Amino acid sequence: MASFPELASRIVVITGAAQGIGAETARHFAAQGAAIALFDIDSKNAKVVADAIAATGGRAKPITVDVTDEKSVAAAVAATVEAYGGIDILITCAGGYTRLAQVEDMPLDEWDRTIALNLRSAFLCSKAVIPHLKKSKAGRIIHVASISGRTVHASSSPAYGAAKAAVIQLTRFLAWELGPSNITANAVAPITTLTPRVAALRTEADVARIASQVPLRRLATPADHAQVMLFLASDGAAYLNGTVQDVNGGRVMM
Ligand SMILES: NC(=O)c1ccc[n+]([C@@H]2O[C@H](COP(=O)([O-])OP(=O)(O)OC[C@H]3O[C@@H](n4cnc5c(N)ncnc54)[C@H](O)[C@@H]3O)[C@@H](O)[C@H]2O)c1
Repeated sequence: MASFPELASRIVVITGAAQGIGAETARHFAAQGAAIALFDIDSKNAKVVADAIAATGGRAKPITVDVTDEKSVAAAVAATVEAYGGIDILITCAGGYTRLAQVEDMPLDEWDRTIALNLRSAFLCSKAVIPHLKKSKAGRIIHVASISGRTVHASSSPAYGAAKAAVIQLTRFLAWELGPSNITANAVAPITTLTPRVAALRTEADVARIASQVPLRRLATPADHAQVMLFLASDGAAYLNGTVQDVNGGRVMM
């Protein structure tokens, strides 16, 4: 793992940190010495991740939150500031969708739930941390979008793809709005990554088919994304603002 000593003094909120890309990102930032607030609705698994980080000498605190609920997000941000004294970095990993779908057969409540989990959550968490990032020397917002927000997939969810495209545009608005406060906002757009959620959605044949379409001939690992986010948070990325990092093995080139 690359080393970014400046991250040792940073306080990082990671949403969706109880499993998958969020948990791996938490482990990567904790290994740099950063203090992590593990935001998740799944208290049990968030504690498992926090305990594992603590066992390796890292600093991590599980914070139970529903990232689609404004009051819950406000309480979680307040708990983070009380525990650590501030917030320097927000990483929004909470997101996803529950089934492959098409517009024609999508019930409205599934559309609304998917938009809320992926887009409303990014808005609520960004808004809640802005006053704290403004007090930081090097504020950073990193939104986890998706290749589904960059192009249209044969099999995905239109609500998910639309929400992730909107997350990318929200990122650009934040980059524009917060640049004068020395806060950068960037997005990461992962390709299919073998997390527990994805393993439940995809068959082995799906995985082989997707890998065969990637120039690097493999699916992403959570660590592929975590390493890019470490760099985005580092001092070396201070002048990257409003970008989308397409962590997709070259599957889609924009
Ligand atoms: N895994 C992939 O293939 C892939 C590909 C592209 C983009 N992404 C994006 O990366 C991010 C992480 O994906 P993943 O596969 O690691 O996810 P995951 O499903 O493994 O984990 C998501 C986490 O978010 C938490 N969560 C769900 N709803 C919540 C809520 N309302 N409030 C708080 N926490 C909540 C869950 O408890 C879980 O811990 C998501 O935004 C996803 O859309 C993933």
